[in-house]
Amino acid sequence: MTAPVVVGIETSCDETGIGIVSGTTLLAHQVASSMDEHVAFGGVIPEIAARAHVTEFLPVLDTALDEAELTIDDVDAIAVTAGPGLAGALMVGVAGAKALAVATGKPLYGINHLIAHIGVGYLDAAGADLHNVNQLGALLVSGGHTEMLKINSLTSDVELLGSTIDDAAGEAYDKVARLIGAGYPGGPVIDKMARQGDPSAFTFPRGLSAPKNMGTEKTPGKDRYSWSFSGLKTAVSRAVEQFELRDMPVPANDIAAAFQEAVADVITKKAVLAATEQGIDHILLGGGVAANSRLRELLTERTTAAGIGLTIPPINLCTDNGAMVAALGAQLVSDGVTPSDLNFSADPTQHV
Ligand code: KG4
Ligand code: ZN
Repeated sequence: MTAPVVVGIETSCDETGIGIVSGTTLLAHQVASSMDEHVAFGGVIPEIAARAHVTEFLPVLDTALDEAELTIDDVDAIAVTAGPGLAGALMVGVAGAKALAVATGKPLYGINHLIAHIGVGYLDAAGADLHNVNQLGALLVSGGHTEMLKINSLTSDVELLGSTIDDAAGEAYDKVARLIGAGYPGGPVIDKMARQGDPSAFTFPRGLSAPKNMGTEKTPGKDRYSWSFSGLKTAVSRAVEQFELRDMPVPANDIAAAFQEAVADVITKKAVLAATEQGIDHILLGGGVAANSRLRELLTERTTAAGIGLTIPPINLCTDNGAMVAALGAQLVSDGVTPSDLNFSADPTQHV
C-alpha cells in the first residue's frame, strides 16, 4: 500500500490547525491562533476560541491544501481531534470534519489529542527515527496537560504512568506570570525573565516529592510519578506578598528563575525516574512548554546521564497543530484500524 494521505484537523483550544501528511512525510502545516483575542482576558475564553475556529476552518483548510498542492479528492482519510479540550472548540472541528467526510465519502478518524502529540514524533520532520526505539515514553507538558506516557503501541496501547493532580505546568506558568505582573501567556516571558534572575534566591517546593508520596521502587507511593503545581504557585504568591507588604520592589527575575528551576527540576526528575523504572529507553517531549529553555536543558542533561534517548521535535510541531492529528491518522490507516462511526461526539474529558 502506498503511504496514506491524511488531512488532520485540530481545534481543541485556541489553535485552528490543519496538517496534511503522506505517511510520515509532512506535506502541509497551517495554524491560525486566536491567542491575540484572549490576551486581554489573561486566559483562553472558550466562546471566543470556538467562534474563531468557525471563521478559520475553511481558510486554513484551503491554505493547507494549496501548500500540499492537493485537492480534497486526493486525500485518503480525514482525522480530527475528538478530545480532550474545550467542548465548544472541539465541536467546531468535529462538525467540520464530519461535513467534509460526508461530502467527500472519505473515512473519518476521531482521535485523542494527547496521543496525537506523540504521533507527531514519527514524522520525518520531527527529526528522529522513533520506529527503531525499543520502548518509547512521552512527556507532554502544555497549558492543558502534564503527563508521562508509555507507548506500547501508538495506535492501540498507550499507558498513563503519571500526570498532574491539579494545574498543568503551562497553567502554573500563566498563573505565576500574573502574580509577578509578567502578562499572558506567561511561559515565554517567565523563561526570558528567569535568564536574568538567580534561581537560588528562593527555594520553592517540588510538589509530591516527599517520601510519603514517592514510596520506593518496590512499594511505590500512588504519586510516585505524579506532579502538583498548586503548592508551588501558592509559595510564589506568598513570596510576592512578603515584598509587597513591606513596600519593597518584588525581585521578579529571581522569583521567575527560582520558579522555573522548581518546575524543570520536578518535571525532569519524575519523568526520568518513571522512564528508568518502567523500561523506557527513549523519551519524546511534546506540548507548548517544550519551548522552555531550562526544561530542555535539564531534560537533556538527565536523560543523557540515565542513558535514555531524547527527541524534542521543532517547537511548531510541539504546540497544538493539525500535522500531529494527520500523523496519527496516517498510522491508524496504515495499521488497518476501522474508521470512526460518524455518530461519534467531541469528548472534552477524553483521556488515554
Ligand atoms: O501546547 P500549547 O501551545 O497549548 C496548550 O496548552 O495545549 O501550550 C501553551 C502553554 C502556555 O501555558 C504557555 O505559557 C506555555 O505553553 N509556554 C511556555 C513557554 N512557551 C510556551 N512555558 C514555559 N516556557 C516557555 N518558553
Ligand atoms: Zn496539546
